[in-house]
Amino acid sequence: MAARYMPFPHDVQRNHSLDRSVGRRSLRLPHQKNIRCMSIAAINANKTRIVVLSGSLNNPSRTRVLLETIAQRIAPKLRAEVTVIDIAELAPVLGSAVAFDRLPPAVVEAQRQLASADLLILGSPVYKASYSGLFKHFLDLLEPSRLRGKVGILAATGGSDRHALVLEHQFRPLLSFFEINTVPAGVYLCDAEFDGYRLRDEAGAGSRRIDLAIEQALKLLPVPKALALAA
Ligand SMILES: Cc1cc2nc3c(=O)[nH]c(=O)nc-3n(C[C@H](O)[C@H](O)[C@H](O)COP(=O)(O)O)c2cc1C
Repeated sequence: MAARYMPFPHDVQRNHSLDRSVGRRSLRLPHQKNIRCMSIAAINANKTRIVVLSGSLNNPSRTRVLLETIAQRIAPKLRAEVTVIDIAELAPVLGSAVAFDRLPPAVVEAQRQLASADLLILGSPVYKASYSGLFKHFLDLLEPSRLRGKVGILAATGGSDRHALVLEHQFRPLLSFFEINTVPAGVYLCDAEFDGYRLRDEAGAGSRRIDLAIEQALKLLPVPKALALAA
């Protein structure tokens, strides 16, 4: 496939020091059109900020494709900046991080990005009936109050539908502990709903579920950010 990078249709800021610190890279979604995921170091307080946290250890990753599809659909409605935190990229330093006062700079920066978000899009592949261990470990290292009151969309991918309720009995209680206002509609897609690393059916049930979660998030976001261009 030809490499063609397209920014979101709104402001794109890119910071190379952050790119280095958290191993950021441009992303090519293998479906439809390509988007560039961006990170910003100087957080712009006036912009709505969406931060994606992907708990997959793989690259490429269906989970990441799903989360970025959600971000791609909602960002223009909020004229938001999007940052993606990819656990797969943090994994080399995250696994050995245990001391709260001596976290690797990349983890500290990822925490700072998360804490600056207006909207969180959080997800993981199902690993043994739950989120990935490193997704949990990343959150274990985070002071819970830093995410208090944020709006969150939950998503997961799994090998089959058998664990579709994982969002309700694993993810939602964890994120409630962080006092995140998660939208009622979680988005769970199984591997059969992907064609490789693209959504198989852009108009199917999974896609409609994404749109429902977005609609709910727009209602939960505080005015005036949610005033958005909701339509
Ligand atoms: C270690 C491991 C454990 C898994 N456990 C489950 C599971 O319990 N239930 C399930 O439905 N899928 C399970 N899967 C399948 C993945 O959740 C699924 O393939 C997912 O789409 C992978 O997402 P990714 O491409 O983002 O890594 C497991 C995969 C791995 C690698």
